[in-house]
Amino acid sequence: MKHLISIHDLTKADILFYLDLAKELQKKPRTDMLKDKLISLAFFEPSTRTRLSFEAAALRLGAKVMGFSDTAQTSTAKGESLSDTLKIIGGYSDAIIIRHPREGAARLASEVANIPIINAGDGANQHPSQTLLDLFTLRECFGSLEGLHLAITGDLKHGRTVHSLVEAASLFDMRLYFVAAEGLALPNQLSELLKMRGLKFSFHRDIHDIIAKIDALYLTRLQKERLGTQTVHEYHGINLALLQQAKPTLKILHPLPRQEELPTEIDTTPHAAYFDQARNGVVVRQAILLKALGITL
Ligand code: CP
Repeated sequence: MKHLISIHDLTKADILFYLDLAKELQKKPRTDMLKDKLISLAFFEPSTRTRLSFEAAALRLGAKVMGFSDTAQTSTAKGESLSDTLKIIGGYSDAIIIRHPREGAARLASEVANIPIINAGDGANQHPSQTLLDLFTLRECFGSLEGLHLAITGDLKHGRTVHSLVEAASLFDMRLYFVAAEGLALPNQLSELLKMRGLKFSFHRDIHDIIAKIDALYLTRLQKERLGTQTVHEYHGINLALLQQAKPTLKILHPLPRQEELPTEIDTTPHAAYFDQARNGVVVRQAILLKALGITL
């Protein structure tokens, strides 16, 4: 049984395994590798991409899917515990894909449900399947992850896609630039991890300072749903004028959904990689499902 709970649990070889398997599935789509499987989608938080691309991944491999994305329609609304809910779903299906606002919910699921668990985002903690598709997209754009100069900007404090991506990037020979406004800085434990693994990285307040140096820019939205009482006075995005200073080969990634940090005027530039990135979610999540269920090509 192979859960996918956190990038922290993966080695570089594990990550490359997922990326290579996704590439194989992209080159030669399979249609019936999961034909006897039933996959549960337990979404305790809203989602468009993650839920629907996992569903597309499962259906395109021949699996059946069931689940919920509105907890008001489940017995959670009657006070049933997360642990009980997951034990019950574990008795009905072959794998659970879970998104939950609580950090550690996916880990808890792996301890109580007797089937593979895939973390589709737990609070501000981790979003490992997003990171695998981010890395897949970067590798598609540049041929390799090694040596990339990658800037990660936005809400570095609350963004789970950021936290997963930083952990994964620390396993490759990347140069990282972090750009965040006051109060949205990267958590200390992640910068300590980068130091321990010997990565070169730096902190900046303004994208202008680094735009000319980077190969890829990973933008994120302000995670308003996780701010609590914190107020944010500034938030930086990009625009066409800023991109005049970028390398012509710069690629922009964003986990989406976007807000004002990524204006639609960027969409038609050669820099925009975020719609390809979202599309890559299907093959990457197919690879994750196959690995979780112990099925090889
Ligand atoms: N990137 C991402 O997690 O998007 P959704 O919230 O739409 O799933």
